[in-house]
Parts: sequence; C-alpha cells; structure tokens
Amino acid sequence: MSSFKALRIHEAEQGTTARIDDVTLDDLSEGAVEIRTAWSGINFKDALAVTGKGKIARKFPLVAGIDASGTVEASEDPRYKPGQKVVVTGWGMGENHDGGYAERTRVRGDWVVPLPDELDLRRAMIVGTAGFTAAMALVRMEQNGQRPDQGPVVITGASGGVGSFATRLFSRAGYAVTAMTGKADAADYLRGLGASDILDPAQVDFGKRPLEKAEWAGAVDALGGEPLTWLTRTTRPFGNVAAIGLAQGIELNTTVMPFILRGVNLLGIESVYCPMTLRLKIWERLAELLHAEDFDAICTGESGLDDVPRACAELMDRKVRGRTLVRLSGEQ
Ligand SMILES: NC(=O)c1ccc[n+]([C@@H]2O[C@H](COP(=O)([O-])OP(=O)(O)OC[C@H]3O[C@@H](n4cnc5c(N)ncnc54)[C@H](OP(=O)(O)O)[C@@H]3O)[C@@H](O)[C@H]2O)c1
Repeated sequence: MSSFKALRIHEAEQGTTARIDDVTLDDLSEGAVEIRTAWSGINFKDALAVTGKGKIARKFPLVAGIDASGTVEASEDPRYKPGQKVVVTGWGMGENHDGGYAERTRVRGDWVVPLPDELDLRRAMIVGTAGFTAAMALVRMEQNGQRPDQGPVVITGASGGVGSFATRLFSRAGYAVTAMTGKADAADYLRGLGASDILDPAQVDFGKRPLEKAEWAGAVDALGGEPLTWLTRTTRPFGNVAAIGLAQGIELNTTVMPFILRGVNLLGIESVYCPMTLRLKIWERLAELLHAEDFDAICTGESGLDDVPRACAELMDRKVRGRTLVRLSGEQ
C-alpha cells in the first residue's frame, strides 16, 4: 500500500506537537469515501489544534484540518463515484476523525457535499468552514425575519475568515455592513468587501447598562465575551444576533432585558454538525451570492503542508486577514 503525507498531531509530554508523517490509508479513520485531497484551509480551530493552544484533538495521532475538497478516488457508498469532485467541512474532521491536512481524506458518505457547479475545488476551500458559517448566519437570520431595509448589520472580528465572508455575503445580499476590526490597517480591505462603516473596538464604549442605545438591526459575532454582551444590549427591537465564535472569550454577561423588552433574538450558530438539508441550502446561497473576484479578495495566503504550523501561529497572533489555503494536490 503506497504512503502519502499527512500533518498529524501527536500527544507530547506537555500538550501536543504537530509534524508531517508518511502514512497509509490504514492509518486513517474509517469511512466509505476515499478522497484525493486537493485543498484545505486554515480555520481558527485548526490553528488552535496545530499550535496546541486549544484542546481540539480528541484522538492521537490525528490528521489535522477540519475542511477538505478533492476528487473521489474510491467509494463504497453508491452515491459517490470515482472522479466526482466533493467538499467536506466539519463532522469532527480534524477533531475526532482524521481531517483534511493529508493527501488522502477518508470520510463517511453522509458527510459529503457534491461540489456546487458554480465553484471549483480551490474556491470551495477559500470558503471552507469560515465562509460556510458566515453564510449559515445569513440564512438563519433571514429565516428569522432579518431584511436589509431594517438597517445596518454589525460584524465583529471582521478581518478574520468568518468576518471577511460575513462582510462580503451580507453586503452582496443588500445589507449595510459595519465592520468592527482591531486591525488598524484592515479598513480598505473591509471596504473592498462591501463594508460601509468601520469600527475600532478600542474606540467603542461597550457600556454597562442592561440596555444601551439600540443601533444595530442585526449582528454577526466572532468574538464572544464583552463584544457579544454589548451586541445583545445595542440591537434594535426584533433584531437577530448570530453568536458564532469565542476569539475574545466565552463569557456572556447580559440580562434578560434585551430579550423581553426588545424581542432581540440570540441565534446560536453551529456549523460542524449542520444537517445535510440546511448544509446544501447554505452552499447554494454561497454559490449564488459570491462573485469570482470575491475569492481572490478574501484568499490572502496559500501554504503547503510543511508551512501550515507557521501559518497557524500567525493566525493565532492575529496577523492574518481573510483566509489561508492549504495546497494538497492543487487540483481545481
Ligand atoms: N460556531 C461555529 O460553527 C464556528 C465556525 C467557524 C468559526 N467559529 C469561531 O469563529 C471565530 C472566528 O473564526 P475564524 O476562522 O474567522 O478565525 P480568524 O480568521 O482568526 O478570525 C478571528 C478574528 O477575530 C479577531 N480576534 C482574534 N483574536 C482576538 C482577541 N483575542 N480579541 C479580540 N478579537 C480577536 C480578529 O479580527 P480583527 O483583527 O478584525 O478584530 C481575527 O481576525 C473563532 O472563535 C472560531 O472558533 C465558529
């Protein structure tokens, strides 16, 4: 059986360590669909796993990478045929199932999404979990009544992967977007993605009262902690706040007042185990809203497997904007 390269996380005396190993298919988690991996990407969770800064890996050794796109090499699942192009995000890949940072990925048939016609394998991974989750926020907020004419939507952690896609998608869908970023030099980038206003968190008074002046018709939050608390207090009546991330913290110190006096909706966004019907709908919406130039605007880096640890460390240090691709076969 021929071997191939995989970036795996191993248990170490203190924490974990990541290195490139030669592995065979027998080393990978079980699954009916074997994929020749073309691309993966770097998400916050991948950076936590590879740098060892977060407890993401639930088995050892583990191939990291929560996303993969590629071509079916072999399938015991009759729904998939060799040669078919596919995308897989989440489902525990890169956590408790070997993931996308390997030249082969093996997954369950139920996890596989056929590559949408409008995308190619590279673009699908520029989207990856980050873009998928931003689109999930849009779909869920609209299912809950959000409309562009209600007013501005604020996006936090805006220069990151989720934030960049949220900025682009909401603006393509007709919303006025206020992008909050701690990166002083990201304003032009975010205006290029459609943001009409930029907020510097250092200049924001997050307030202390249960209700503050209602400013936002809706909000997409990648940070948690004080920014999410502030969003619950400053969202207008019947607006939606999509809670996606914890880049700043896991706390939420709000009161019931925004919910019972303003009818604010706090929507939990969970991408990993998103059911297939909703998953396909979200990919459809992504393909419909994104234009060719959006992918190049958001993809700010590309690395090979050996460069992934460095790229993950940069993401943890908040030096990255947009999305970094990971090249495996590089097939489009
Ligand atoms: N719920 C889900 O299913 C799901 C799916 C995907 C991601 N997530 C979560 O969403 C968050 C964003 O993921 P991502 O892949 O977009 O990561 P990312 O590319 O690193 O973006 C995160 C952004 O948040 C800001 N940020 C980072 N660290 C911060 C800190 N300590 N304090 C304040 N702001 C900070 C930065 O934006 P600025 O410099 O522009 O301020 C950064 O670019 C993560 O917490 C991730 O775990 C959740």
